[in-house]
Amino acid sequence: MKTKITEMFGIEHPIIQGGMHFVGFAELAAAVSNAGGLGIITGLTQGTPDKLANEIARCKDMTDKPFGVNLTFLPSLAAPDYPGMVKAIVDGGVPVVETAGRNPAEVLPHLKEAGIKVIHKCTSVRHSLKAQQIGCDAVSVDGFECGGHPGEDDIPNFVLLPRAADELEIPFVASGGMADARSLVAALAMGAEGMNMGTRFIATKEAPVHENVKQAIVAASELDTRLVMRPLRNTERVLSNDAVERILEKEKKLGAELQFDDIKEEVAGVYPKIMLEGDMDIGAWSCGMVAGLVNDIPSCKELIERIMSEADAIINARLTGMA
Ligand SMILES: Cc1cc2nc3c(=O)[nH]c(=O)nc-3n(C[C@H](O)[C@H](O)[C@H](O)COP(=O)(O)O)c2cc1C
Repeated sequence: MKTKITEMFGIEHPIIQGGMHFVGFAELAAAVSNAGGLGIITGLTQGTPDKLANEIARCKDMTDKPFGVNLTFLPSLAAPDYPGMVKAIVDGGVPVVETAGRNPAEVLPHLKEAGIKVIHKCTSVRHSLKAQQIGCDAVSVDGFECGGHPGEDDIPNFVLLPRAADELEIPFVASGGMADARSLVAALAMGAEGMNMGTRFIATKEAPVHENVKQAIVAASELDTRLVMRPLRNTERVLSNDAVERILEKEKKLGAELQFDDIKEEVAGVYPKIMLEGDMDIGAWSCGMVAGLVNDIPSCKELIERIMSEADAIINARLTGMA
């Protein structure tokens, strides 16, 4: 399939694997890229520019195809060495960067100078327009359904995507709630040039996370996610578990008085234990409503091939037959 996004990133299929903390290691990024999508290494998981440079080199050993690096700008925690990470990305010859969180204006000139394409992840039309205005090449429009941080507007993709299509000139991909061929064809119909998936890619053979994480996603339904940290205006969609229920109780009890310190135990530094050791109830971890559509653990190649062949059938048999 040829879209503005496949052309821009030099990939075969319009499918991107979004950056994911302690999931987006070289193994997953390379598997997605080898399957014809765009795999993305999560920069902040590496922590330092040297470790990121090493992860980029590992990914290059595993694939000759284009892959990207995610740079997430967090609101409050001590700032990581972003300039050092940008240097590691440029020196490593990475062709695409996915930015997220704050506006990426401070890193954009360095990335653009090096000829790197930048796709910024946004949860609203106004942030997408800002990304376009400052010179991002594309945006990933993340609806309310998404795993991770959906922002504070709560607009699901059935409204957000056509609104983005009405306003944007640069290409965008649909993100949040995307799982299969139906998601892809619907996203294309609403004006997107492809789709970005997070949760779906965790439940794949190559995702280098503990089996418990994959099984938790397969077992979950669309009713099993919760929103935490809304009182801190740092809303995160996570899979329900004991720690999440504790957070919600504290949020209810403390209301507007809630401070980050009150829930630190359940949210700070919990990812390695969950993702790598499979300690599923130790803290809150991002997961999308789309878990309700995830029922198996295929390889990235099987998943992407299935999506593309079923998309073909939807377009050429079902839709064409109706027209
Ligand atoms: C476990 C997990 C960790 C994530 N970590 C990050 C991250 O560090 N940076 C980021 O930009 N997005 C992160 N995301 C968001 C994804 O890149 C993607 O935008 C989102 O998962 C899309 O929604 P979906 O899960 O419905 O596919 C994370 C998502 C999940 C599920």
